[in-house]
Amino acid sequence: MIKKATFLISNTDYKKCPNPDKPEFAFIGRSNVGKSSLINMLANNKNLAKTSGRPGKTQLINHFLIDEKWYMVDLPGYGFAKVSKSIKSDWENMIRSYLSNRENLVALFVLIDSRLEPQKIDLEFITWCGENGIPIVLVFTKADKQSLPKTQSIVAKFIKASKAIFEEAPLYFITSAESAKGKEELTGFIEEQVEEFYQERN
Ligand code: GTP
Ligand code: MG
Repeated sequence: MIKKATFLISNTDYKKCPNPDKPEFAFIGRSNVGKSSLINMLANNKNLAKTSGRPGKTQLINHFLIDEKWYMVDLPGYGFAKVSKSIKSDWENMIRSYLSNRENLVALFVLIDSRLEPQKIDLEFITWCGENGIPIVLVFTKADKQSLPKTQSIVAKFIKASKAIFEEAPLYFITSAESAKGKEELTGFIEEQVEEFYQERN
């Protein structure tokens, strides 16, 4: 479990992000999918990352230091319609260059709304990740909003669609920021990866 979480810095440029000397885990997904809420749930701090009912709240690369050992990164969402084309492409460039160049990135959690049939924009994004060798893990969000069987049927459809993209389907977690579902599983996965990062370095 996460004991200590502190906000470090917000950036538009990956080059200005904190020293890449610690393992890093970033959260991305469609605007409003629940990235900031999930981060707060994992960190046991409702005020750590800013959340909002309006899409497009997070606009920068936000670094948090967790337990003095690893970085958690809140990223802006993609697919937010209500911004101009030029702002959209600035965001895309910012995110793509961060993801392609951040050498200490251990996993990118791609958040998917567990209530929706597989969306083209999510499939396109994970395709880009596959083509660029970005290590993704799927996180289905807002599972409290419907029954488990309904969530499981959506998850199965998404996993099936992702098998058309990847040889091996990506690892996935089912979560809720509201009920804290998936918290232990996700934190356990991260903590394992953090240990491996330091073991490999020594
Ligand atoms: P952007 O920063 O705008 O891209 O959004 P985001 O992905 O960070 O989403 P955010 O965490 O701000 O949450 C968006 C809305 O969804 C807020 O109104 C949250 O309260 C709600 N929400 C997020 N996660 C959950 C969840 O697990 N369950 C429920 N019921 N609501 C959620
Ligand atoms: Mg956000």
